[in-house]
Amino acid sequence: MSSTLPIGVFDSGIGGLSILKKIHQQLPRESLLYIADSAHAPYGLKGEAFIIERSRHILKFLNSQPVKAVVVACNTATAAAVETLRNENSLPIIGMEPAIKPAALQTQSGVIGVLATAGTLASDKFVDLKSRFDGKVEIITQPCPGLVEHIERFQMDLPAIRNLLQEYIRPLVKKGADSLVLGCTHYNFIKGQIREVAGDAVSIIDTQEAVSNRLASVLKEEDLLSELEGTIHFYSSGDPQYQHKVFSHYLESNVEVRLFE
Ligand code: DGL
Repeated sequence: MSSTLPIGVFDSGIGGLSILKKIHQQLPRESLLYIADSAHAPYGLKGEAFIIERSRHILKFLNSQPVKAVVVACNTATAAAVETLRNENSLPIIGMEPAIKPAALQTQSGVIGVLATAGTLASDKFVDLKSRFDGKVEIITQPCPGLVEHIERFQMDLPAIRNLLQEYIRPLVKKGADSLVLGCTHYNFIKGQIREVAGDAVSIIDTQEAVSNRLASVLKEEDLLSELEGTIHFYSSGDPQYQHKVFSHYLESNVEVRLFE
C-alpha cells in the first residue's frame, strides 16, 4: 500500500465534511476523497441492511480509486456497517461512535444526554457502548428526526430547526444533563444553535478531534503518512450542481462536486 494514496471519507451526506475539515487541518499532507451519499440521505431511519448495502457500494468505489484507508464519518453507518466493511476489506477502516467516554469523565451532575439518529441509538454497537457505563452515569438518549434533513438542505436559520432543538434538548437539560454528546456528524454544523438552546452551563462534546487523532495514529502505525501536499476531491450521489452549493456553503469555499453513482 502506497502512502501517497488518498484517504476515503464518507457519510450519508454533508455531516462528514465536519470530520474532513478536522482531518485536513491536522494532516494537511494527506489527500482526501470525500463521498456523500446524498441521494440516499438521511440514513438515520433506514434499516441496517440498506446501510450495509450502500456502504459496500461506497467501499467498492473507494477501492477502485484506490485509497489507503477509509474513515466512516457517520455514526449511523459505523453502527450498521463497520464490522462488515472490516471483514470484507483489508485496508484500515476508522469508524466513529458517540463520545460517551469523555462525557462520563467530565460530567459533574452524573447525567449525560446523547443526541443521535434513531439508527445509531437502536444499534447493538450503541447498546453495548451504553451498557459499559451502567451504574456509573445516567445516559439519556434522544433521537433527532428532522435535523439531518434541514442540515442537508442548509436551511440553518429556520425557526423549525430551533423548535426541533428545543423539543429534543430541553427535556435533557431539565433532567439534569450537564453534558450533551453530538452522536451524529451533521450536528457539528449546528453547534451554535445547540449551544443557544442548551445554555452555557452544558458542555457540548463532539468526536471530530478523536477521529482525526485515531486516523493519524493508525497511519503512523502502518507507515502510511504522506509527505506530499494533500489534495481534496468531492463526490456526491445527489445532483452535482445542487450539491456544489451545499458543499461550498459548509466548507466556506467554492468546491467542485462530482457525481458518484
Ligand atoms: N451523519 C450521520 C451520522 O453521523 C448520518 C445522519 C443520517 O444520515 O441520518 O449519524
